[in-house]
Amino acid sequence: MSDLIKIKKEKIDEVIKIENLTKKYSSKLTALDNICLDVSSNDFTAVIGPSGAGKSTLLRCINRLVSPTSGHIYLNGKDITDIGGARLLNVRRRIGMIFQQFNLVKRVSVIENVLVGRLRFSSSPVKYFSSLGGKFMREDREAAFECLRQVGIEKHAFQRADTLSGGQQQRVAIARVLAQNPDIILADEPVASLDPRSSDMVLEILQKIHEEKKIPVMINLHQLEIAKNFTKKIFALNQGEVVFKGKSSSLSINDIKDIYGYIPGELQYKKVSNF
Ligand SMILES: Nc1ncnc2c1ncn2[C@@H]1O[C@H](COP(=O)(O)OP(=O)(O)OP(=O)(O)O)[C@@H](O)[C@H]1O
Ligand SMILES: [Mg+2]
Repeated sequence: MSDLIKIKKEKIDEVIKIENLTKKYSSKLTALDNICLDVSSNDFTAVIGPSGAGKSTLLRCINRLVSPTSGHIYLNGKDITDIGGARLLNVRRRIGMIFQQFNLVKRVSVIENVLVGRLRFSSSPVKYFSSLGGKFMREDREAAFECLRQVGIEKHAFQRADTLSGGQQQRVAIARVLAQNPDIILADEPVASLDPRSSDMVLEILQKIHEEKKIPVMINLHQLEIAKNFTKKIFALNQGEVVFKGKSSSLSINDIKDIYGYIPGELQYKKVSNF
């Protein structure tokens, strides 16, 4: 491959580029300190680090729920750091967001959650407002059904969202994101409230979407085993600074010590074993 083609290909592949991103919540609190990061369509990245390290702030800066203090964020080569209004709405449509508490509309059906997720970002206000009144176009219903099928939850389509288990609700949240047809998926501790089996299922679905649709995924995690088993790359923060960037398989005990300041399972205090 010639150098020119190679450079072009790399550019196209770069979905998110973060340049010297700093977020200060106040003059004394720097949540992110001069972060640089590239995310390509081939990346399935875990963001790890102790509580308060800046993981959620990083994801929230990318979809602009939080405004950066300085630096730049590019989505598919376009600077989105300072945009607002309709352009910001369009960018948010391109970025799928998944949260720990699923953030579904509890009292409406599963399929309506997916549909409203899809139409929230619609360029047609008529479609959006009819969706709020519960009127959906046939093509939108079919698209939403297909998204539910992809996460294996279509048989619950007409149940109220809050009658589903946590793992099932998170799969609905993923279907809602799929309905946006996003360029990237950001997940902030998506399995923190789930049992191990549901957690594995959610991660397998995210992996499948990533592999089949070539959508990059960035996922904040506290569980190192999950980060090592399911993700390709790890990006670690501590007090807003990058302390590790590399392949998940290369994360060593020493790296873990640098990131968290101790080695899990080797706490200094005596474990209570004899009751
Ligand atoms: N809206 C806010 N206003 C002021 N300070 C904030 C705000 N959000 C986060 N912070 C602070 O910024 C720092 C980074 O917080 P952040 O939530 O990004 O960390 P985190 O790595 O996601 O932590 P956790 O693992 O507990 O979710 C913390 O010191 C936090 O208290
Ligand atoms: Mg967080």
